[in-house]
Parts: sequence; C-alpha cells; structure tokens
Amino acid sequence: MGNVGILGMGSYIPENIIKNVDLENRMDTSDEWIRTRTGIEERRFAPEEHNTSHMCFVAAKEALEHAGVKPEEIDLIIVATVTPDRPFPSMSAVIQHQLGATKAAAMDVSAACAGFMYGIVTGKQFIQTGDYKYVLVVGAEKLSKLINWEDRNTAVLFGDGAGAAVLGAVSKDRGILAFELGADGTGSEHITQEGKYLVMNGREVFKFAVRQMGESAMSVINKAGLSKEDVDFLVPHQANIRIMESSRQRLELPEEKMSKTVHKYGNTSSASIPMALVDEIKGGKIKDDDIVILVGFGAGLVWGSIAIRW
Ligand code: ACO
Repeated sequence: MGNVGILGMGSYIPENIIKNVDLENRMDTSDEWIRTRTGIEERRFAPEEHNTSHMCFVAAKEALEHAGVKPEEIDLIIVATVTPDRPFPSMSAVIQHQLGATKAAAMDVSAACAGFMYGIVTGKQFIQTGDYKYVLVVGAEKLSKLINWEDRNTAVLFGDGAGAAVLGAVSKDRGILAFELGADGTGSEHITQEGKYLVMNGREVFKFAVRQMGESAMSVINKAGLSKEDVDFLVPHQANIRIMESSRQRLELPEEKMSKTVHKYGNTSSASIPMALVDEIKGGKIKDDDIVILVGFGAGLVWGSIAIRW
C-alpha cells in the first residue's frame, strides 16, 4: 500500500473570548506581561454545558464531512486529552455512540500537548498494516476547569478547544513521511495536576521545550530524507510564542511559514496543533503537496513530531 495521510479535518472553537484585560480585573497581572512573555492576547473558554466530549463530537463531525467518510466506515477512534469529562468511560467511546460510528473501536491516549501526535502515529500503524481503513483522531481539552485563579503563573496561559483528523491511505509520495515520539519522565513533576488544579514549573518546561522542539523537528526532517530548505510550513504546539520562535529559527524559516494561533486561543494542549492546522488549511496557508512539520511537547515530559506531505 501507499502512505497514510490526513483525509479531512475539523475543529471546535468556543465562542466565549477572554481577553488579557479581562484577567487584569481578576488577578494581579497585565496585558503587557502576558503578551510579552507568552504572545497570548486572548483565549476561549467553552460554556459549562460544552464538556470535552461535546467538543470532540463537533470537531469529529466536521472532520468526517471534510474527508467525505461516513461514521460507520471508521474502524478506530483515538481521543487525546488530559481533561476528559470523567476518568472513564473514554471520550472516544462516548463519541463513538454520538457519531454513530458503530463498528469503531475506541480508546483515549494521555500525552498532554503531544497527545495529538501520539494519536496520529498510533492510528497510522493500524492503517499501514492493512488491518484498518479509516482512523479518527481527536485532540480536545477543557483546560479552563483545571485553572487555579489564585496562581497567576498558570491561569493566564490556557484555553479550551478541539481539533480532529480522519486518517486513511494516500499515495506513496504523500502523507506521513516520518515521525518521532519521545518521553523523559525525569521531568514528570514539572507539569501535573494536584488536586483540582494544574501546577507547573514554567521555567523548567520552557527550557525543555526550547531544546526538544528544535531537535525533534530536525530529527523528523532527517528521517524523511529532507533538508530544512524543503520545509514549507511549521505547526508547533501553541504554548508560548518565544518557544515557537526558537523552533522556527532552528529551521531557518521566515515568519510567514510558521502557524501562529497562540495569540487568539492560548495553550489548548492536545487541541492546539489540530486547531492550528484547520485554521491554516481554511486560510490557504497549507496547500496540497506542501511539506509540513508538526511538533508537540508537554507534560510527561513527552514530545512528538511528524513530517507530512499534504
Ligand atoms: N502576570 C504578571 N506577572 C507574572 C505572571 C502574570 N500572569 N506570572 C508570573 N509573573 C511574574 C512571576 O511571579 C515572576 O516574578 P518575580 O520575578 O517577582 O518572582 C516574573 O513574572 C517572571 O517569571 P518567570 O517565571 O521568570 O517568567 P518567564 O519569562 O519564565 O515566563 C512562562 C513564564 C510564560 C510561564 C514561561 O516560563 C513558559 O511559557 N514556560 C513554558 C510553559 C509551557 O509551555 N507550558 C505548557 C506545557 S504543555 C502541557 O503539557 C499543558
């Protein structure tokens, strides 16, 4: 068979916009601090009644329509999330029913902001072996429910949302050309959940991310037999503009060749890369045949990169 590629994508973007100035009224912070340290100008919070499974459902439905694949044709659903509605049942099982994906197996993966990368790479294996034809991969987070409003170090960074992709067979020169997944559990305490809230050692995560994103991006470029000059577009995990800029500079790409949505969505963890991809496809920045590099990193600590010919 040929390669495995993304046949269609969709997203859920909450309507409710929270601007930095709205946070100024809530805690000791400023628009200027948030913008200069993170690049974030606003983020979106889903309403009470839109939990993670609902966001998954909306994004998945759009992805299936975009791909022209019927729910009952899906063989496997993988949801990447660290904010499921409940620890169990899995979000993938919940949306399997809601979508009417009657023959699909269902499982969730926990790899934080690299979750979508882990999901895509897992789904790819099942198709590559010939066992499955279509796999639906969703990254979705309701991080607003983990925010500690007493902790300005973390409260300003996160947002809600979801993105989804349908994987299937494509011709040999297209689709996923190479991937790299990795983990370094020595940093497992740097970003975690304690009680109800997310806690983070920002400086440690920052140092790790700057080093790992550039290295991992270069690694998949090499594995795919490409060079930096071949790269048309970079979609890094949207956590902090300074981290994203360091990976862009490592690849020596001009500004317009890197996806930037962190200013409007904040950090949406496993949803950030698929949400960014949907925006860039809709905006015409990612076109057929483009070489696109996706790079995620997050709690674990974990990372994942993919080189894909669109
Ligand atoms: N408003 C105003 N001041 C603030 C705020 C705020 N919201 N937050 C922190 N400060 C203060 C701090 O208290 C500190 O003050 P002090 O020097 O008096 O103690 C000062 O600003 C500087 O703090 P630093 O930690 O040095 O700021 P830094 O430049 O490192 O930026 C940041 C902090 C943005 C958190 C950065 O470290 C970062 O982005 N780290 C990576 C985070 C990340 O990507 N996390 C996601 C991982 S993915 C996942 O799995 C979800």
